[in-house]
Amino acid sequence: MEINLTVDGTPRESKPDERLIELINRIGLKVPQVCYHPQLGPIQTCDTCMVEVDGKLVRACATHVAPGMNVSTISARAVAAQREAFDRILGNHMLYCTVCDNNNGNCTVHNTTKLMAVEHQKIPFETKPYEVDNSNPFYRYDPDQCILCGRCVEACQNVEVNETLSIRWEDPHPRVLWDGGKPIGESSCVSCGHCVTVCPCNALMEKSMVGKAGFLTALPKTALAGMIDIVKGVEPDTGYGAILKVSEAESAMRESRIRRTKTVCTYCGVGCSFDVWTKDRQILKVEPMEGPTNGISTCIKGKFGWDFVNSSDRLTKPLIREGGKFREASWDEALGLVARRLAEIKARSGPDSLAFISSSKCTNEESYLMQKLARAVIGTNNMDNCSRYCQAPATMGLFRTVGYGGDSGSIKDIENASLVIIIGSNTAEAHPVLATRVKRAHKLRGQKLIVSDLRKHEMAERADLFLHPKPGTDLVWISAITGYILDNGLAKTSFLEKWVTGLEQYKKSLEPFTMEFAAETCGLPIETLKQAARMITESEGVCVLWAMGVTQHSMGSDTSTAISNLLLVTGNYMRTGTGAYPLRGHNNVQGASDHGAMPNYLPGYQLVDDPEVRARFEAGWQVKLPSTKGLDNKEMIDAIHQGKLKAMYLFGEEISLVDSNKNLVDEGLSKLDFFVVQDIFFSDTCRFADVILPASPSLEKEGTFTSTERRIQRLYEVFEPLEGSRPDWRIIQEIANRLGANWNFKHPSEIYAEIASLTPLFAGVTYERLEGYKSLQWPVAADGTDQPLLYEKQFNFPDGKARLFPLTYSEPSDRVNDEFDLHLNNGRLLEHFHEGNMTYRSAGIREQTPDTFVEVSPELATERRIKTGAWVQLVSRYGQVRVRALVTDRVQGKELYMPMNSSESPVNRLTGSFTDKVTHTPAYKEASVRMLVLGENGESPLPRGNPRFGHRTPQRGVEVERKWKRPEYRVPGSPMLFHATKTKANGGNGT
Ligand code: SF4
Ligand code: SF4
Ligand code: SF4
Ligand code: FES
Repeated sequence: MEINLTVDGTPRESKPDERLIELINRIGLKVPQVCYHPQLGPIQTCDTCMVEVDGKLVRACATHVAPGMNVSTISARAVAAQREAFDRILGNHMLYCTVCDNNNGNCTVHNTTKLMAVEHQKIPFETKPYEVDNSNPFYRYDPDQCILCGRCVEACQNVEVNETLSIRWEDPHPRVLWDGGKPIGESSCVSCGHCVTVCPCNALMEKSMVGKAGFLTALPKTALAGMIDIVKGVEPDTGYGAILKVSEAESAMRESRIRRTKTVCTYCGVGCSFDVWTKDRQILKVEPMEGPTNGISTCIKGKFGWDFVNSSDRLTKPLIREGGKFREASWDEALGLVARRLAEIKARSGPDSLAFISSSKCTNEESYLMQKLARAVIGTNNMDNCSRYCQAPATMGLFRTVGYGGDSGSIKDIENASLVIIIGSNTAEAHPVLATRVKRAHKLRGQKLIVSDLRKHEMAERADLFLHPKPGTDLVWISAITGYILDNGLAKTSFLEKWVTGLEQYKKSLEPFTMEFAAETCGLPIETLKQAARMITESEGVCVLWAMGVTQHSMGSDTSTAISNLLLVTGNYMRTGTGAYPLRGHNNVQGASDHGAMPNYLPGYQLVDDPEVRARFEAGWQVKLPSTKGLDNKEMIDAIHQGKLKAMYLFGEEISLVDSNKNLVDEGLSKLDFFVVQDIFFSDTCRFADVILPASPSLEKEGTFTSTERRIQRLYEVFEPLEGSRPDWRIIQEIANRLGANWNFKHPSEIYAEIASLTPLFAGVTYERLEGYKSLQWPVAADGTDQPLLYEKQFNFPDGKARLFPLTYSEPSDRVNDEFDLHLNNGRLLEHFHEGNMTYRSAGIREQTPDTFVEVSPELATERRIKTGAWVQLVSRYGQVRVRALVTDRVQGKELYMPMNSSESPVNRLTGSFTDKVTHTPAYKEASVRMLVLGENGESPLPRGNPRFGHRTPQRGVEVERKWKRPEYRVPGSPMLFHATKTKANGGNGT
């Protein structure tokens, strides 16, 4: 239903829920709105958006439309109030735009000065009694320039929900505070950059911008101060109009040298997208704004973790092993050698003596070409990617039960859930931006949260119910509460009857999973299990999020299946706020599998042994294709040891550090007759290579990534490839052509056109439909219709019904005993991505998180008489590492945790070769060790500046009501002292 009202004398129509500011902006009227940001909602701190409604002054940002309203944005009273409000702002901010790094055409304070044609300010600028805070490696805060709009506070408290920032409105000189008044570098700030991104002026700024963006901003401080004084000096005579003209000329000049290019984050699978601001090869800043997944959000890695791109260690020359050493070679020589050796080995030992590993950090187009090279040029299905190490079991659980191997909805659907269950995922660190959406819904909307994990990480701290089951037993408690729900008549019977098959057989399989059995096996009280069951059945919608804590177990596929079974029994599919969300780890681990980098699937999960599928690809590629499943990553290493696999071509994958049982893997790699590694750095894996080819990272190429939401997004070339390196797709094409293929792709869009023509799942994907920030969530029909929420009409099986899948339980592998008495868990840290090949090359990240460590519980530390910083030796059945201890109550009892960010002490020296039985995903999380205390005490492995040591200051947001209570506060345009009476109609301005 439309609402009719009048704005500035013109009749207008509006949607019922619209705010006046939204209507005003939609129809293109120019009203100042300094603190308003569409993604933050009304903060109401600036008062510059005052308009007159039926004769009363109200804040347009906080006022909803109502039928018959008569709104004036230009009445004398409204304009006077707007001016007065903005004058107060200028009292907090010195306009020195020409010499300001924020003078880039998008400064809200500058643009509002211009919009309001301010010539002189009535309230003089007054400096505040605080120093600039430079203590964070990535950004700085200048209190003198801070207009106290509170956008940063709102973003930190209610979007990122790290709850670091506040403003103490009662102070004589309020300013933004970190942890209530600590230096930034000693606070809980996780350097996500939300606050910097939304700051409407130069008060918060990326250090990479300071002195770099402007033509005059690199001048020494004294010279800058002199120039600022000149500006101040002429203002009384010339007015701001003339001064702004000069600064705008300077700003326009910047446009000729500053480029803004959209890209998609290269780190985790959340799929954040943003503009990268560059000057030549310098990154000035990362600006997230309108990404369909992240909006203004990023984490430390996406916002600040890009130094690796310009690192001096980048490979820029192909290397060839000769006499036990590497020597530089030309591209022509290296590619010629690769093609010759691959052809020789194929001729001598057959196509299945070669194997190919694709990169889940590289693009969809690159994975597609790699598997096409393996299948169509070499003739083998020995093709895999690192989803084998993490995601394959989750995919299997979904294939078994609902039919598509991807998240059943979008992050928005997770936000809409009334209950979120997180199992085996340190979401706040491994998928930080996705975690913000859960934290926000939990904080602001009352969403409930259950977390099951070995560690009490941030999400566990926030949970309404935290379960700490014994390692490797999630399958048991999940199945037990599913059985309890069925037995007690709490299941969604109507849903089961209409949409699900296999109930009777499944019920039978649940018989052993009694609550008593679960309590004993998992070490969880029966009452806690019943509480979890009640929370699930009493919730309107449940989403389950899980990750490596589930999948990297010997029962990873079965536990993933159990999760989906539970969702089916409780009717939690087919609508928003419900569903299964395996959180994909790498930026393109979903896409690499989607695009055929798997031993049993051609692109789009089309089976290699399906003659109809093969016939289509054979016709498209004009070759005969192999018809039997190839080797997966694990089988490849086994086959090398058995002497069956002779050559391997791998790109963008650090197999030596990330596969389990490193010693065995390294031994295997060293046995290969010929090994090609394509990467951007000399990785650990490169040590075993015969030829190393220098590739380009995501910022130097075009293509698409697919995020955990099945969202396909385009990345654009930010920089040209570093001289000497090449985008992976070009290298793969060159090798294929030297082996006799006749590929002629000039741009990744042409590769995608071929993919779409052969793959029903992506039939309607085109680069035009993905232009800029546009995206598509597969499956995409030929007409371009995508499916953000799966299973709205039916499940992905021929009969349209989901399937309950019966399960049994077996004990985890590699269990503790007298000799190896401690359980070792492992995973990621917020600041580093995996082994840290990229993130260690960021000086700021290294400063905050310089090394790996082992987390030891306070109980164990007391028992073994160790303190934080003590060096210990961890010894497993497979290897040993030396590492420093960090004593923390995140872990309990005899459970240890070791982050994987180290090439010197990689955790995979300790993990074994047990795998998930179905997918061969290594059971990384099933490792036992003994700990030898080495008797040396070192520094804490985490410096004081790490955000873990901060103390958050949660509050509802910027809490503007406290500002309104300041004795001198009165609403602009109102002679009366302000008394806050917040109502929907008057927008809380109390007039
Ligand atoms: S955590 Fe730090 S960087 Fe992120 S919004 Fe809060 S203060 Fe800003
Ligand atoms: S630092 Fe925060 S309060 Fe100050 S101007 Fe920036 S966003 Fe506003
Ligand atoms: S690492 Fe993940 S959460 Fe962080 S910015 Fe990149 S995609 Fe987003
Ligand atoms: S935009 Fe700041 S109070 Fe409305």
